[in-house]
Amino acid sequence: MNGLDARLRSEGAAFNQALNDYLTANSGVAPRLDEAMRYSLMAGGKRLRPILCLWAHDALAGERTVAVWHAALSLEMVHTYSLIHDDLPAMDDDDLRRGQPSCHRRFDEATAILAGDALHSEAFAALSHQVPAELAVQLISVLARAIGNQGMAGGQQLDLSATAGDPQPEELTVIHERKTGCLMGAALVMGALCGGLDPAHIDTVEQAGRGLGLAFQIADDVLDATVDSQQLGKSAGKDRAQGKLTAVGALGVDRARTTAEEEVETSLQLLRSCALVSDQLEALAHFLVGRDR
Ligand code: IPE
Ligand code: IPE
Ligand code: MG
Ligand code: MG
Ligand code: MG
Repeated sequence: MNGLDARLRSEGAAFNQALNDYLTANSGVAPRLDEAMRYSLMAGGKRLRPILCLWAHDALAGERTVAVWHAALSLEMVHTYSLIHDDLPAMDDDDLRRGQPSCHRRFDEATAILAGDALHSEAFAALSHQVPAELAVQLISVLARAIGNQGMAGGQQLDLSATAGDPQPEELTVIHERKTGCLMGAALVMGALCGGLDPAHIDTVEQAGRGLGLAFQIADDVLDATVDSQQLGKSAGKDRAQGKLTAVGALGVDRARTTAEEEVETSLQLLRSCALVSDQLEALAHFLVGRDR
């Protein structure tokens, strides 16, 4: 195991502990809903958005605060909500997620919709709990903008109507940046804000994170076309089967890979320009496109 793998593993374990504690302390009124939320959350994702947030914080500040932990939790709750809804029959209609039946397959569609809704909402509850008021408002604003009609939800809508018929790299970039990049941008900005980032740098950090997310989604498209379902923990080859507009369709595997690496370099330059750098953050940025699942 190389150094980054070991750090990702221990960071993931610490994060999972925090998530488990948070869920236990914040159960709801309907056991089936809690069960569905926990089922999807604890299934073992890579935790890359919370780790981006924590490591952006660590690049600027020493001790981790409740605020940065709650920011990390909120990012994973939103991300998991987006996966539950992305898998619904009305969207990508996927049966497998994180190595197990997707939420609507294990429970039912209505419960999966509600689990996504509740995670979306709980993310903002976490951000408004035990976080200093001014910082809480900043974090809530960054996350809300990243996932609404200008961000993730807007990108998902564009993704649904795009087809592989006429590959348009520019259109694809907009879709990837919105559906995936904006949340990664929020992860970096939220972590950095908790670490005391100069607000003058927010836009640059956001842009860097969006570029990392774009690169990450290009890698996701390549993995869908080149790796099997067992390794991915989700159904491989679906993009092509469903006629999706993807980086592989628009650019081919080799150019897609090169483009993703170039995006990572551009993003790292942006981060350097505002002194948001550390060895582990840099290694993580490269891992986003070099990963094998
Ligand atoms: C999958 O994200 C959805 C995309 C935005 C491509 P991840 O690959 O981070 O999924 P998990 O969290 O590890 O399951
Ligand atoms: C998902 O993109 C993006 C969001 C969930 C916002 P994909 O549809 O490519 O993700 P996977 O491949 O199902 O994980
Ligand atoms: Mg999708
Ligand atoms: Mg999908
Ligand atoms: Mg995909």
